[in-house]
Amino acid sequence: MLSTLLLLLTLLIVAVSTKPRHIVFIVADDLGWNDVGFRNPDMITPNIDKLAKEGVILNQSYVQPVCSPSRHAFMTGYYPFKAGLQHLVIGAGQAVCSPLNMTFLPQELKKLGYATHAVGKWHLGFCSWNCTPTFRGFDSFFGYYNSAEDYYTHEIGGFLDLHENKHSVFAYNGSYSTDIFAKKAVDIINQHNREKPLFLYLPFQAVHEPIEVPKRWENYYPNIKTVGRRKFCGMVTAMDSAIGEVVSALKQNGLYGDTLIIFTPDNGGWIPYHGNNWPLRGGKISIWEGGTRVNAFVHGAGLQKSGYTYDGMVHAVDWHPTIVSAAGGTPADGMDGLDQWPSISTGSGSVRSEFIYNLDDYIPTTQGHAAIRMGNYKLIVGNPGEYSDWYKPEKVADHVTGENLYSESILCREEACVANESLSVLRLYNLKDDPTEHFNIATALPDVVEKLLARMEYYHKQLVPAKYPPVSPSSNPKHFNNTWSPGWC
Ligand SMILES: *[C@@H]1O[C@H](CO)[C@@H](O)[C@H](O)[C@H]1NC(C)=O
Ligand SMILES: *[C@@H]1O[C@H](CO)[C@@H](O)[C@H](O)[C@H]1NC(C)=O
Ligand SMILES: *[C@@H]1O[C@H](CO)[C@@H](O)[C@H](O)[C@H]1NC(C)=O
Ligand SMILES: *[C@@H]1O[C@H](CO)[C@@H](O)[C@H](O)[C@H]1NC(C)=O
Ligand SMILES: *[C@@H]1O[C@H](CO)[C@@H](O)[C@H](O)[C@H]1NC(C)=O
Repeated sequence: MLSTLLLLLTLLIVAVSTKPRHIVFIVADDLGWNDVGFRNPDMITPNIDKLAKEGVILNQSYVQPVCSPSRHAFMTGYYPFKAGLQHLVIGAGQAVCSPLNMTFLPQELKKLGYATHAVGKWHLGFCSWNCTPTFRGFDSFFGYYNSAEDYYTHEIGGFLDLHENKHSVFAYNGSYSTDIFAKKAVDIINQHNREKPLFLYLPFQAVHEPIEVPKRWENYYPNIKTVGRRKFCGMVTAMDSAIGEVVSALKQNGLYGDTLIIFTPDNGGWIPYHGNNWPLRGGKISIWEGGTRVNAFVHGAGLQKSGYTYDGMVHAVDWHPTIVSAAGGTPADGMDGLDQWPSISTGSGSVRSEFIYNLDDYIPTTQGHAAIRMGNYKLIVGNPGEYSDWYKPEKVADHVTGENLYSESILCREEACVANESLSVLRLYNLKDDPTEHFNIATALPDVVEKLLARMEYYHKQLVPAKYPPVSPSSNPKHFNNTWSPGWC
């Protein structure tokens, strides 16, 4: 009797543990710290708020200050400065892609039996077919290759950038991209064979500029006076509704209970385009907290503890090994990313105690030059990057200025730095006491500065020079039926 019971129990455990765990990895573009309802009650994001509150809100989740580097980190688990991707983003027409010798996340998931699909923004290079999603582990791709485009015509620089697998698609001219991507994601979920684990990578175009949204979404915010901010908030709510459609499709297909949903922005809100990171300092492009600390959360299958805020340090490079681990695999060696799955899923302490915000030596534009986090301390070396103040929503024009930015007591590595801060001014903050980076304590704590500088130097030895070539004339869409297409490197 007992042995029969034990056998049944064993069978049950095997059945439960072999049930596929589906993973939906949602990336929002340029969504600020203050741009979701669970931080800011003025924002209307009921679906995001519900998932975040039921799941685990990651309170110290960091990404790169701009798009391509963050996406590279998500896909590979390596810092962008080890791939030559640390300087700004991959520009349209630049013959650059995330290095082909680095294994992408969906390639690892395929080894674990996953069906892998990407819907939305790529921005990891497309000069060669080998750089594109279906050559880097995705069974299917629907979306665009470049940084930004019109939400309705899907054109950038006057040329179409919308593709389904290897073909340009013309049929969606006039349809809003957030709606199209939601529909494609829902189609994938509807067609999925639920015996097989699903990995759906859903990087929305929203809420990157251009600031465009159907009027019905803008109308949710009648009290916002600034037109741009009102439209921006409408874009956020449209994306939230799209996420709601994806959740409904998971439920209708009986997948929801076995699905882990992960949500992260690629960088902070972009100040001139109405993104908002209040009360954090700075925004997209800068290595201040406002550019790099984002509203990420996880929800659903596999979480042994949920409904809480996780205060451990998480970095963009951690998603690759963490997702492989959540999928039941063993992360490869050598990555910068750490497997955070055991910590996040049980609520134990983070395995991460330090990370690099960025290392960018590219001259002449070294803004966002270098920063490192160790424990509670953050050291910024050189120019932190554009948008260095504290910005309230709707008040970008009369923002609270960084009044002490240039009068603050600064430490210098070189004589010249007083006149030229691009490379050698040092700023130190204690983020536990001062998460909004108001108090530069570098002159008071020279020993801490030395320690962080030495650690930064250790990482700097591994830097691969930035790949930032001029535009390749052979990329011109005129050679490709007026569409942005691979095949020119
Ligand atoms: C990729 O190749 C470069 C040089 O070609 C090398 O420095 C780097 O270590 C390689 N990375 C991986 C993950 O294999
Ligand atoms: C999309 O429609 C607009 C307006 O009708 C037109 O100007 C544009 O050329 C179209 N774009 C594509 C890629 O078909
Ligand atoms: C989240 O971070 C903020 C700012 O650093 C901090 O004040 C707050 O206590 C943190 N929340 C939790 C639950 O750890
Ligand atoms: C600051 O330093 C950079 C890099 O060395 C140099 O290109 C630039 O001309 C300098 N600017 C000034 C004002 O000295
Ligand atoms: C070339 O572009 C036109 C629209 O401008 C489109 O109708 C046609 O299908 C495209 N050809 C290919 C091979 O994609």
